[in-house]
Amino acid sequence: VAELRVGVIGAGAVSGPHVAGVQRDGRARVTVVCDVDSRAAGRLAATVGARATEDWRDVVAADDVDAVLVLLPHLLHYPVAAAALEAGKHVSIEKPMAVSSDECRALLASAERSGVVLTVAENTRFVDAYVAAYEVVASGRLGATRLVRAFVYGSAIEEFKEPSGRWKIERGGVGAVIDAAPHFLYLLRWYFGEVAAVQAVLRHWVRDHVLPASVVEDGASVTGLLGNGGYFSTEYALGIEVPWGERLEIYGADGSLVVDQLADRPAVLYRGGADFDGAPLEAVPRDVEGWKTISIERAAADFIGAVLDERPPAVDPRDAAYAIELVEAAYRSAEQGGTAVVLDTAT
Ligand SMILES: NC(=O)c1ccc[n+]([C@@H]2O[C@H](COP(=O)([O-])OP(=O)(O)OC[C@H]3O[C@@H](n4cnc5c(N)ncnc54)[C@H](O)[C@@H]3O)[C@@H](O)[C@H]2O)c1
Repeated sequence: VAELRVGVIGAGAVSGPHVAGVQRDGRARVTVVCDVDSRAAGRLAATVGARATEDWRDVVAADDVDAVLVLLPHLLHYPVAAAALEAGKHVSIEKPMAVSSDECRALLASAERSGVVLTVAENTRFVDAYVAAYEVVASGRLGATRLVRAFVYGSAIEEFKEPSGRWKIERGGVGAVIDAAPHFLYLLRWYFGEVAAVQAVLRHWVRDHVLPASVVEDGASVTGLLGNGGYFSTEYALGIEVPWGERLEIYGADGSLVVDQLADRPAVLYRGGADFDGAPLEAVPRDVEGWKTISIERAAADFIGAVLDERPPAVDPRDAAYAIELVEAAYRSAEQGGTAVVLDTAT
């Protein structure tokens, strides 16, 4: 195809950077925007010269759509992506890929059958700091992994309160584990390979103190053992008053790396116990407000490039599906009071 015609399903908060990413390629055009909120669909459609619809089935069936972006509430990722794949469209789904590993497996099989590109817009793969940190890890400079700590922090409380954000506090909505943990569970797989065991504890501060209607956990700790022998400890807090950000710390036998989007030096390499100053990773700019948006744009642009250039997308959907297997293991552990869930590893 000389020009890729894109259907955008879901015109909410995350749609802006996705559309910017589609346009960045120069070989793709948004032909239709869908949202049940017709004003939201109309507004976004007008900015890109596309038509608007309230019914996602129109997009999936449309002749002038080659590729679909699924930017919907989590519970809709599976049915909409499945229908689009069956219709032979290339598909990019926002994270989480789906809400169960069974759904993820069905999507992988369907994409395989249709011979189309399937990816997940896991923006983690495109964050400057994580790309630079990956290079350091892959170079072996940190030595054997001892401990990986990660933290997603910020407040979703105002979003939870908005009428349009209701899906976020309902079943399958923006729970700390299903919504935030996939970012780092994906990253663990990307950097270190398989995870051997997972333990989790969930927290409900928002439900208990602010919004009794919420059924989702706003906080969680997901910890465990990596297949390479190191430990990991990840924390998610969606109800704390601090600018949205992420922190990643990798402690190895020969050195350590600390990434924090809010810090003056967002990525610092420590070459051992006597390296008090550390060395900033020069490739990582401090961009407190823009780092995430830019990474989402890049995810969309990568999807378009993968389809047009007939190459694999940067985010292998099997790795995104693996993150959902770990999410399931985390929820299982939490249900069992935080005991370890041991995973099948290939090795
Ligand atoms: N990668 C990231 O860092 C990141 C950041 C934000 C959101 N997201 C993901 O993007 C997705 C959307 O999140 P958001 O923040 O944009 O949510 P949002 O609530 O702002 O937008 C969702 C949109 O979907 C529409 N919608 C709901 N049901 C629909 C249906 N049946 N048919 C058509 N439209 C429907 C809603 O009207 C709304 O406009 C979620 O999966 C979320 O996890 C990812």
